[in-house]
Amino acid sequence: MTTAIAISGLVKTYGKQNAVDNLTANIAKGRITGFLGPNGAGKSTALRCLVGLAAPTSGSATIFDKRYRDLDNPLSKVGTVLDSRGFHPALTGKQNLRVVAAAAGIPDSRVDEVLEMVELKDAAGKRMKNYSLGMKQRLALAGAILGDPEILILDEPANGLDPAGIAWLRKFLRKLAEGGRTILVSSHQLAEMQNTVDDVIIINKGKLIASGSMKEVIGDGSLEDAFLALTGGEL
Ligand SMILES: Nc1ncnc2c1ncn2[C@@H]1O[C@H](COP(=O)(O)OP(=O)(O)O)[C@@H](O)[C@H]1O
Ligand SMILES: [Mg+2]
Repeated sequence: MTTAIAISGLVKTYGKQNAVDNLTANIAKGRITGFLGPNGAGKSTALRCLVGLAAPTSGSATIFDKRYRDLDNPLSKVGTVLDSRGFHPALTGKQNLRVVAAAAGIPDSRVDEVLEMVELKDAAGKRMKNYSLGMKQRLALAGAILGDPEILILDEPANGLDPAGIAWLRKFLRKLAEGGRTILVSSHQLAEMQNTVDDVIIINKGKLIASGSMKEVIGDGSLEDAFLALTGGEL
């Protein structure tokens, strides 16, 4: 197994609280890894440390052995969907992506390509403020894949999606992974991720409680059962 992302002894403290508490985990290249745990478990904080939006209190999080900010061409290495993406509501989906593309030296033809990939071609000329939540999520995904990155880091991309949207996301991520990409996707909805991911990292209260392939972690049960068993039923 080739490690794409290595998290080692990661600690992030806010005040007296360890939002991430000595987290160690490896994410395998070419696989979809679910980063799972209830609200407040520390998922977003760990992902923010990984992409340099928060500074670790101690420990490290690296991508192909480098810190995000030391990557040569970060947009072609890592695409992200984190909670605060700077899309402008008054611009259309296409205009928003063109702004990102221009800043990164990516041609407009790629904007059309990614709009097609996320099935927003017909809505490309609509202002983003008129998009549904699902359309906004897909636009964010389109932004993340603009640079055709090897790694995708997605924080709760299924949030607010209806069952059809979740099924769509599952197929979309699988296609990207089949092309050799590595995907780290967080969710607090364990049941939703059951059929989407190959490997799981489960955290609770900032601490690792399980990691491995789906089979290793859940056996013949469900992710929810495994989580409840691992935490003694305390959510
Ligand atoms: N910027 C911040 N300042 C203070 N506390 C924070 C900050 N960000 C997150 N936290 C706290 O850290 C814990 C983990 O939060 P978070 O990483 O958002 O969890 P998750 O993404 O798993 O829901 C929570 O208790 C949250 O309140
Ligand atoms: Mg979060």
